[in-house]
Amino acid sequence: MPPQSPRTVLVTGSTAGIGEAIAVAFARGGDRVIVNGRDEARTAAAAVRVREAAGGAGEVVPVAADVAGEEGAQRLLDAEPAVDVLVNNLGIFAAQPVFEIPDEEWRRFFEVNVLSGVRLARLYAPAMAERGWGRVVFISSESSVLIPTEMVHYGMTKTAQLAVARGMAQELSGSGVTVNTVLPGPTLTPGVEEFIRDRVGDDVSFEEAERRFIAEERPTSLLGRLIRPEEVASLVHYVGSEASSATTGAALKVDGGVAPALIP
Ligand SMILES: NC(=O)c1ccc[n+]([C@@H]2O[C@H](COP(=O)([O-])OP(=O)(O)OC[C@H]3O[C@@H](n4cnc5c(N)ncnc54)[C@H](OP(=O)(O)O)[C@@H]3O)[C@@H](O)[C@H]2O)c1
Repeated sequence: MPPQSPRTVLVTGSTAGIGEAIAVAFARGGDRVIVNGRDEARTAAAAVRVREAAGGAGEVVPVAADVAGEEGAQRLLDAEPAVDVLVNNLGIFAAQPVFEIPDEEWRRFFEVNVLSGVRLARLYAPAMAERGWGRVVFISSESSVLIPTEMVHYGMTKTAQLAVARGMAQELSGSGVTVNTVLPGPTLTPGVEEFIRDRVGDDVSFEEAERRFIAEERPTSLLGRLIRPEEVASLVHYVGSEASSATTGAALKVDGGVAPALIP
């Protein structure tokens, strides 16, 4: 059974975009939410926004730490020794032709997008299992199953998350702790807005740029528009809840139908 007192929910990379929306969803539900980013001031400001958006329902605690590295993960653990729900949301993306990506960049993408979540799960999940309840959610992407030609290194990390989460779910079998991945599709975040502007140009309105991007670069989208961060957050909130107790080792899509395979 989930803890009786408010659950502690850690959302990495939650000073913007999907992470911030996920933090709001859990805070609205009355959970105690840890907001995380690299910079003290940005993290504190995000915590204020999350608290306001949640209408004061749950406690919101900012913890600044660069969780891409061991030191930052340890700082987070020192500040918050126990969490009930870990959302490994932190992730970076950038377009670069595959044969021009140097070794260092492959390593950086692996460290930030994969190892950060592996390390935090290693730090928090065994204690969840001892308490008999927990949720670990990896935020992957439709790019895990539809490798984008313009960012193969990103796709590689997102596929790796599926394997990692499935393996951890197997390890935690029968413990009350579930491990899942959520696969968002193209979502309107500040970073994606900039990415689309770069690819489509800024001589048209953003609405038109969004339409062209989806039509030309994500033509399999059934939604026909970018997903909104709140739409991703509502699935993550469900996966982090008691209601999702029979869902583990799963990959769940919230991609507007972009990935055409019937099963991820
Ligand atoms: N947006 C999409 O279309 C889309 C689609 C599919 C999947 N996803 C996945 O969804 C997740 C979130 O994406 P997003 O687009 O919402 O990201 P975003 O808007 O770029 O936000 C990234 C967040 O991560 C934080 N951050 C960056 N490096 C960090 C580090 N080393 N340690 C701690 N925090 C760090 C940033 O905070 P500071 O700058 O304040 O540190 C910011 O809060 C990613 O895993 C991404 O792969 C996104």
